[in-house]
Amino acid sequence: MQLPQRVSIVEVGARDGLQNEGQTVAVATKLRLIEALADAGLKRIEAGSFVNPKWVPQMADSEAVYAGLQKRSGVVYPALTPNLQGFERAITAGAEEVAIFAAASEGFSQANINCSIAESLARFAPVMEAARDLQVPVRGYVSCVLGCPVAGHITPEQVKPVVSELLAMGCYEVSLGDTIGTGTAGTMQALLEALLQTFPAEKLAVHCHDTYGQALSNILVALQHGIATIDASVAGLGGCPYAEGATGNVATEDVVYMLQGMHIDCGVDLDKLIIAGQDISAELGRRNASRAALALSAKRAQSQAGSSGQ
Ligand code: HMG
Ligand code: MG
Repeated sequence: MQLPQRVSIVEVGARDGLQNEGQTVAVATKLRLIEALADAGLKRIEAGSFVNPKWVPQMADSEAVYAGLQKRSGVVYPALTPNLQGFERAITAGAEEVAIFAAASEGFSQANINCSIAESLARFAPVMEAARDLQVPVRGYVSCVLGCPVAGHITPEQVKPVVSELLAMGCYEVSLGDTIGTGTAGTMQALLEALLQTFPAEKLAVHCHDTYGQALSNILVALQHGIATIDASVAGLGGCPYAEGATGNVATEDVVYMLQGMHIDCGVDLDKLIIAGQDISAELGRRNASRAALALSAKRAQSQAGSSGQ
């Protein structure tokens, strides 16, 4: 399989990243982050979620975030919506694209959205109908494709029907979530070989949390299977509130660095992205989880010290 020449990055830091912050993050901080990500050239930036605010208080201000967005042409700002109530909130707030999210594991589905997989798919049907009426594109997620915090091992046969349902109901793409980051190059390969027998690579994306340090190798396997959409989170922000111990997604800076080395275009200015990641990490008082950002920032600081004679 040929590597893609171009990759589309879905930046999830402002949603997947910040939904897991213990501290309250001001709307102005979220907006500054989103603006900096757009400045760096990202074209798909998840900006919030319209879930039950009692479940995820960090996203309770998503209306205010969408109201404050300085929307740019050519950039989409999708919102996560778990049901029709969330979809209606998102559209009222001005979201032009939404994402629905299901799981490959019953245990995680219950923990995350308080219903079975079948019930979640039934809940999405009216969302898809309303989205079709308004011509709003819908992305789908399947969580726990390579492992589940409740059930442990997950097989490709558990993932396939959920992907199939989401595509059949009209999602334009399905993102495969390694929610707890336990996948390896081996399990990712087995999953993709099984899925690609049925679904074209253009319909799939990967969403790799980096808990076990496997995200970049899993992404490389996905690229080698022709998958050209990668989810990532600036500075590796985040985790999942319903997957204890899971760390953030792969850092966007690390993905961009790898893609540059492979001569795969993703349209992102790495220097600007690193500044966005350093700024939000400093604001949150977090260590930047991007290894490439840390290394390149240290190198830059060293060469600046050298050129100023220190
Ligand atoms: P529920 O409690 O079962 O819902 O929650 P319900 O329909 O029984 O309603 C109960 C109350 O919630 C009602 O209010 C509703 O109005 C309210 P009350 O009458 O008690 O005052 N409610 C809502 N309020 C605002 N917005 C809504 C909404 N829906 C109901 N949309 C629900 C079901 C799905 C809503 C809940 O479980 C929930 O919000 N879960 C969200 C969990 C979440 O956000 N998880 C993180 C995102 S997923 C993720 O990170 C994984 C991903 O990154 C991929 C990966 O890594 O694998 C995408
Ligand atoms: Mg996630």
